[in-house]
Amino acid sequence: PPRILSGMQPTEDSLTLGNYVGALTQWVALQDSYDALYCVVDLHALTVQPDPARLRDRTRRTAAQYLAAGVDPLRSALFVQSHVPEHAELAWVLSCLTGFGEASRMTQFKDKSAKQGSDGTTVGLFTYPVLMAADILLYDAELVPVGEDQRQHLELTRDLAERLNQRFGGDTAVVPEAHIVRALAKVQDLQDPTRKMSKTELGKGTIWLLEDPKAAAKKIRGAVTDDGSEIAYDPVAKPGVSNLLTIFSALTGRPIETVVKDYDGKMYGHLKVDLAEVVVDFLTPLQARVDEYLSDPHELDAVLAQGADRAREIARGTLARVYDKVGLLPAR
Ligand code: TYM
Repeated sequence: PPRILSGMQPTEDSLTLGNYVGALTQWVALQDSYDALYCVVDLHALTVQPDPARLRDRTRRTAAQYLAAGVDPLRSALFVQSHVPEHAELAWVLSCLTGFGEASRMTQFKDKSAKQGSDGTTVGLFTYPVLMAADILLYDAELVPVGEDQRQHLELTRDLAERLNQRFGGDTAVVPEAHIVRALAKVQDLQDPTRKMSKTELGKGTIWLLEDPKAAAKKIRGAVTDDGSEIAYDPVAKPGVSNLLTIFSALTGRPIETVVKDYDGKMYGHLKVDLAEVVVDFLTPLQARVDEYLSDPHELDAVLAQGADRAREIARGTLARVYDKVGLLPAR
């Protein structure tokens, strides 16, 4: 089967509902028909200079959330990026193919570095998308399930794959496609629905997978809605309500149109009260599963070791192929 790869950063204790809806639902859905590899990108998380003990803990917690969301280690390889040294090795080769201007145009870099000021910005943050390209090309992945905010990084990855093929021969890299599901790929902040729900917002606009379900329900009931009163899906004119409909649809598996029909003639408040309940019913069992995985770190580490073995098998072959193509002398 064709291969897919994706990853998330372990930068907080908990993933967000945006991570779940935009990416994890797709990871789980695709693992049956693809050869799937899902990693916790701990090397990427170093760009925010995390506390070492915290990073280690968050790496396990992130893996536990993948499992609790339904990533099945019997079908998918679940691993930690730094356990496969080839990621950093391929990233170097790719960084020598990436234009300085090209990397400078990445909007996430511009946003993040603007927040930190030029002294706080690191070279790692700048080359972050190159490491992401390495994650993907290392496995000859054909498809990469991500949210909308990763589209530009995927474009860069495709450009780098094409560049490798132009310079070193057509079979050097597989050019990947982004798998971005329009109706799911953009969960917005509950307090400012024109902005994406993000891990860096500590306010009431973000729902965390591991937060108290009652607190999450309160955030849903307090979500900012739009002018008018009709419940309709229109992300431009009604960003707040549309965002709630997206979440409702993702968590219940019911198409958005069906949800809209169900709420015909009802008010925003009805939708919010019901969605708050849906969120509680989703988070409560998910958190119980996360706790279970975290209660046995040895078992969790064994799953990650198995995933890394499988990933390395593939990664070694790809890196050797690329090293050979670009003219590095093989060690004997
Ligand atoms: P990260 O850790 O910021 O987010 C993980 C995934 O969640 C998606 N996502 C969202 N989707 C919908 N609505 C939102 N509000 C929302 N917030 C986040 C992201 O699009 C992503 O799919 N650079 C990546 C991690 C990465 C990666 C990779 C991804 C590193 N290497 C290789 C794919 C393949 C990132 O920072 O994602």
